[in-house]
Amino acid sequence: MRMTGKRFAALMLALAAALMACARRHETAPAPEEGRILIAYFSNTGNTENIAGHLAEILGADTWEITAETAYSAADLNYNDSNSRANREQNDPDARPAISGSVADMGRYDVVFLGYPIWWGQAPRIVSTFLEGYDLAGKTIVPFCTSGSSGIGTSAEALHGLADSAEWLDGGRFSGGASRGEVEEWVNGLGLTVRKESAAMEGDAAVLHITIDDTALTASLEDNSSAAALRELLGGGDVRVTLSLGQ
Ligand SMILES: Cc1cc2nc3c(=O)[nH]c(=O)nc-3n(C[C@H](O)[C@H](O)[C@H](O)COP(=O)(O)O)c2cc1C
Repeated sequence: MRMTGKRFAALMLALAAALMACARRHETAPAPEEGRILIAYFSNTGNTENIAGHLAEILGADTWEITAETAYSAADLNYNDSNSRANREQNDPDARPAISGSVADMGRYDVVFLGYPIWWGQAPRIVSTFLEGYDLAGKTIVPFCTSGSSGIGTSAEALHGLADSAEWLDGGRFSGGASRGEVEEWVNGLGLTVRKESAAMEGDAAVLHITIDDTALTASLEDNSSAAALRELLGGGDVRVTLSLGQ
């Protein structure tokens, strides 16, 4: 069947619309808006750091370790000693251990994953120091923690008042050795629409070129995960597409 130029154009527009509709159908829930992500975490024995590492890989995000100005020794962390530094701090709601350094440009992040170990059911006081040190208004904060066995409990809610102009998502608790798969499953359930910097659409990557016989058309791609998958598919060069109608 030969087509006129007009019918060709109509077919191509329908194709472009279908591609974008398809992309929309697979999109994850769009709340909150996506943006640059920081994984900030406090970790002394590497468990929370392990989760932070998984998150950084999954999300293509920056990480920043909350490091105490005076490092915690093994004796400081001895929870069996009622007079250990960690225990004294946890018993004092006003304790604010000093942090070494600061996040270079907190303003550039829209989402902050905040990781900590559970200490007596709560976040270590140094996490309070961190929250009080920045203007986090309008950002989304996603708490996560590791523990020997306790759940996240009220540890995250207890922090809300320290950054009450942020939007707090429900937190996640992991065992120290949790796998990347476990962490990814949790991330996928958050409803975050995440833009990885490497997948951000720029220039030509935002445009789909379609050619049928002598007719060349372009269509804008949506900025979502399906469009990113389509771009990856097309990354190797032109592809042949066969179209037919059917049920
Ligand atoms: C002072 C202190 C208190 C702790 N309290 C708890 C607790 O209440 N419940 C629990 O399951 N684990 C508790 N733990 C264990 C840590 O939460 C656990 O080992 C965590 O994964 C350590 O994370 P990190 O390696 O990132 O520092 C405590 C550890 C310390 C040092």
